[in-house]
Amino acid sequence: MTPRPRLLITGASGFLGWNLAQAAQADWTVLGTYYRHPVKIPSVELHRLDCTEPGAIARCLNQFQPDAVIHTAALSQPNACAQNLALSYQLNVNVPLDWALGCAERQIPLVWTSTEAVFDGLNPPYTEDSPPCPVNIYGEHKAQAEQLILAQAPNTAICRMPLMFGDAIPPAQSFVQPFLRSLRAGQSIQLFTDEYRMPISATTAAHGLLLALRQGVKGLLHLSGSERISRYDFGCQMAQVWSLPEDLLQGCRQADVPMAAQRPRDLQLSNARAIALGYQPQIVREELMALRDRL
Ligand SMILES: NC(=O)c1ccc[n+]([C@@H]2O[C@H](COP(=O)([O-])OP(=O)(O)OC[C@H]3O[C@@H](n4cnc5c(N)ncnc54)[C@H](OP(=O)(O)O)[C@@H]3O)[C@@H](O)[C@H]2O)c1
Repeated sequence: MTPRPRLLITGASGFLGWNLAQAAQADWTVLGTYYRHPVKIPSVELHRLDCTEPGAIARCLNQFQPDAVIHTAALSQPNACAQNLALSYQLNVNVPLDWALGCAERQIPLVWTSTEAVFDGLNPPYTEDSPPCPVNIYGEHKAQAEQLILAQAPNTAICRMPLMFGDAIPPAQSFVQPFLRSLRAGQSIQLFTDEYRMPISATTAAHGLLLALRQGVKGLLHLSGSERISRYDFGCQMAQVWSLPEDLLQGCRQADVPMAAQRPRDLQLSNARAIALGYQPQIVREELMALRDRL
């Protein structure tokens, strides 16, 4: 039997990487990396890696000889990026560029996860051809990395991910689990009525990334969901699906909550390019019901 190709997933201890490592096993021998949180994932060979260590990315590629890489490791919280500029630049600009150059040099495909937050949310909908216009450091650094990679390693697939939710492991929480815990404890939750996203489950995200890899995508691809929904309406749907009291949810506006990082208002991203390749995001309620049945 021919051995299956080897896929290296960085950030396998993170929310998306952990979910991706499960989904990828159908077609790949999966290797994963973690940094501060050693995790165990059945059938996945896991290694510690600090991507910011000089030479670490080249050493990792030489040691593990993957046939393809999906790079999800990042500083992924906008507030943390605003508070740690240098680390954000290192992890969200230098590191993805190093992966892109390393993979280009070895002629192996790389899929890298950028974000919907490269847009300001003021003039939706956004296509892959819309010019980036970030409003916070996280979005700014991701947009800078996109530009550098498009110029220097144009065969890289750059997938702009939307808000994601789903199964989670202890080091990497999805917002669903704390949300459910709070409602079960009878605590009220404030949610924005004027912030819109096109969320997807981590399972859909994983399938989208693997599709981008399979289809040999080069350049930008939007993996947004099929439905534009406010944070508040999203919370109401979660409460309904888990049969929890909706009256504990209170609508508020972005301007009511001071935060380290400014937040884009309406991130409606066109996913037509991905759909044409076979991407199939479900409506939010169906995604939530599937998650409820798994948890
Ligand atoms: N979650 C979302 O809703 C969302 C939305 C849009 C885009 N994205 C993008 O999707 C990707 C994955 O996001 P996520 O939510 O899964 O992130 P996450 O849960 O915060 O995971 C981050 C991962 O990066 C690893 N990491 C951190 N510093 C590292 C370093 N110096 N060297 C190597 N690895 C390091 C972490 O490892 P340890 O935990 O082991 O230290 C962890 O596995 C990111 O590119 C993010 O920007 C996410």
